[in-house]
Amino acid sequence: MKFIKFKTEAEAVKHVAEIIVKKIHAKPSLALGLATGSTPIKLYQTLVDDYKHHTISKQATDWSHVKTFNLDEYVGVDYNSEISYHKFMADNLFDKVNINKHNTFFPEDHSFDSLISKQGGVDLQILGIGTNGHIGFNEPGSKADSLTRVVELVPNTIAVNAKKFFNGDINAVPKTAISMGLASILKSKEIILLAFEDAKTDAISKLKKAKSFDPSFPASILTQHPNVTIIFDSSVKVDA
Ligand code: PGA
Repeated sequence: MKFIKFKTEAEAVKHVAEIIVKKIHAKPSLALGLATGSTPIKLYQTLVDDYKHHTISKQATDWSHVKTFNLDEYVGVDYNSEISYHKFMADNLFDKVNINKHNTFFPEDHSFDSLISKQGGVDLQILGIGTNGHIGFNEPGSKADSLTRVVELVPNTIAVNAKKFFNGDINAVPKTAISMGLASILKSKEIILLAFEDAKTDAISKLKKAKSFDPSFPASILTQHPNVTIIFDSSVKVDA
């Protein structure tokens, strides 16, 4: 695992956006694994800015053949509702670039893993991390061989998401989600995990010390992958 620290989130996301844009130019049908939550919002803005104003690439970036696979979605939500991750992706990225919506995939049932394989696998997976070390909605206790499945959110995740996205209303947060598993995530060819909050300091520090998989800290599965980069900014109090 490589750890790269940037002074600001803007510098960090520019670096990641450059990687993504370069990959799309090199392989127009790039398969991107995408995350939701507060962490990737500025990254998506930077990619949209590049699409509209060529801020990263001098030539236009064509998203029409790009394929995307999102990590997770709440169970039982209307995909057009404000809380849905389908809507989050539409608002933050998909409606703002020329992506073909037929090429954007979300987990709906356990067939998601075979769908990803049939599409040729994920080239680059973008991840956030929960304060409890979850990736996707793989909460502590998740197994190393877990695939896409319905998961129960733990009280910590419900509380964090209530504060960030539901005006503090714990009752409004769905209690179950469907998430790619740890084994699903590990199949992608390359992984970039992002962290831009002081609240992630403990998680990143634990990840840096991790030597093997510990189910109580799901992100430690990344120790088992050959091409993982952790990108964070100075709000995370960890040395690179
Ligand atoms: P966040 O969520 O980006 O809103 O912090 C990350 C996560 O819980 O995986």
